[in-house]
Amino acid sequence: MSSHAILVLGGTGTVGSRIVRQLSSYHSTADSSSPSYHVLVASRTGSSSSSLDQPQNVQHVTFDWYNQDTWSNPFSASPVPIRSVYLIAPPSLDADRIMTSFVDFARERAARRFVLQSASSIEPGGPAMGKVHSYLRELGSRGELQWAVLRPTWFQQNFADQPSHVKSIKEESKIYSATGEGKIPWVSADDIAAVAVRALTNEVPPNTEYLVLGPELLSYDETAGILSDVLGRKIVHVDLTADGLEQRHQSFGMPENYSKMMSAMDTAIKFGFENRTNDVILAVTGSAPRKFRDYALSAKEAWATGKQ
Ligand SMILES: NC(=O)c1ccc[n+]([C@@H]2O[C@H](COP(=O)([O-])OP(=O)(O)OC[C@H]3O[C@@H](n4cnc5c(N)ncnc54)[C@H](OP(=O)(O)O)[C@@H]3O)[C@@H](O)[C@H]2O)c1
Repeated sequence: MSSHAILVLGGTGTVGSRIVRQLSSYHSTADSSSPSYHVLVASRTGSSSSSLDQPQNVQHVTFDWYNQDTWSNPFSASPVPIRSVYLIAPPSLDADRIMTSFVDFARERAARRFVLQSASSIEPGGPAMGKVHSYLRELGSRGELQWAVLRPTWFQQNFADQPSHVKSIKEESKIYSATGEGKIPWVSADDIAAVAVRALTNEVPPNTEYLVLGPELLSYDETAGILSDVLGRKIVHVDLTADGLEQRHQSFGMPENYSKMMSAMDTAIKFGFENRTNDVILAVTGSAPRKFRDYALSAKEAWATGKQ
């Protein structure tokens, strides 16, 4: 029996689902002297999107950031105390208030370690997750909780997970951005999850932030070149204006203020903001970070033109 539980908010999403998979396989391969964890997977549906049998130590719970009546669900459902929480924000610029309220709510229920997924582009104290970052850091400096903040750069998985990219690659053989020739150290969601798992489970509390960057700097033109090789057809990068990208995001249902922030991030990339890499993934996990070409090969079915 696990001695304590880990709650993964946004646990059905790109990174969260990988954290859950890694934690549950860690559990199944751990020898009897290793710690094991009960894993609570929180999402609005409260159910798995996978038809595969869930491991015994994984439990799905209903949780909605915007419905505080659901916040106690993980705590009442868990057979053992929740000690660590992975925080993924809902897609809104004003999520910081509800997130810090939830941190307090969970602390009152004996959770003691909080690991936040922020973004490379958001400094502590900055918008949205930036305020949650500084809140955790401040409470941590007073010894009131254990914490870590992951600041990943742009995910390799965006190309096959985001409907706008999938549609344009499949239907037009194009990818759109407003990044010009700006370069990005594209990171694998598997590697982000591996850093998260260490931050959640290492005995020594991290009490720090991790800038989680991939191994190679590639512009959108260069990712289009790799996708062309992998798919055997020409994929072209279309370089939009910032306004043009904003309109495009809105046409896929993104709220106006969020689309403005996203296009401002592309402009920052254009002027070199993401032009950096580091060895955080290797240092924290002991494994080399995955390259974009390997990701593209593993995901190529998502862009097959015959597929809906
Ligand atoms: N994509 C990138 O390149 C990138 C780069 C850096 C940082 N980030 C940050 O990473 C985060 C997104 O992570 P991700 O891509 O792993 O997530 P994701 O795939 O977008 O999944 C979001 C998760 O949150 C859940 N969720 C959505 N709304 C919710 C709500 N109101 N209450 C409770 N749960 C809710 C979703 O499940 P349900 O829908 O079932 O509730 C899902 O499990 C964002 O904060 C983003 O800013 C992204």
